[in-house]
Amino acid sequence: MVSYNNQEFRVEKVRQQERMCRYYRFQSKIYDWTRWAFLFGRTRILKKLGFDHQDKFRIMEVGCGTGFNLDRIARKYPNVELVGIDVSENMLEIAEKKLKKRKNKKVFHPLPYGKDTDFLFHPPDIILFSYSLTMINPQWPELLEKAYRDLPEGGKILVIDFHDSRFQWFKSHLGNHHVRMDRHLLPELQRLFKPIESKVNSAYMGVWQYFLFVGEK
Ligand SMILES: C[S@@+](CC[C@H](N)C(=O)[O-])C[C@H]1O[C@@H](n2cnc3c(N)ncnc32)[C@H](O)[C@@H]1O
Repeated sequence: MVSYNNQEFRVEKVRQQERMCRYYRFQSKIYDWTRWAFLFGRTRILKKLGFDHQDKFRIMEVGCGTGFNLDRIARKYPNVELVGIDVSENMLEIAEKKLKKRKNKKVFHPLPYGKDTDFLFHPPDIILFSYSLTMINPQWPELLEKAYRDLPEGGKILVIDFHDSRFQWFKSHLGNHHVRMDRHLLPELQRLFKPIESKVNSAYMGVWQYFLFVGEK
């Protein structure tokens, strides 16, 4: 475990944002064709929203990328209000285009989630992190604490992400794509939020595991 002083931590945060913007400059172009093959559980987690078709609620996705999840949510819930936050403008451009045809109230912010988004609230009923937290290193604990503060009492957090692999080559491969896969997220989620559902699943006969977490403040 690397430990940073405050100054180093701030520098690392800026580096993380720059890494993401660089990485997704190209990856945004192939993202929607390729990720279905390994970002498992995204459809399943959307079934955990716990609202009816006509309900009005507000959902914020942190690291919404190309809008894969927000578009599905908009399709199913015509009255939902959507907030998409992402540090990569290339990814957000695609999300905005994709969601143009949806009638929902929606807003996108090209910002890193954290202090820069303190001005936003109006609290969401649900915060969704879908395959973003494992890429937000080293500041993921700060993001979870912010999500906790941003939710009202009874608000929900939904997380789907990589968990672990027994194959070092696989972890290194994902490390090259800026993903940290160390079982580090679930314990912190379980500490901060009241777990409603917490499940680890296996992909490709055990090459890696991913987890689904639904929690309440
Ligand atoms: C693997 S993609 C997931 C996209 C989408 N949630 C999905 O499930 O398809 C990770 C996203 O997190 C975004 N991201 C990374 N660091 C971030 C940060 N500090 N704040 C906000 N978004 C961030 C990236 O730009 C990228 O679009």
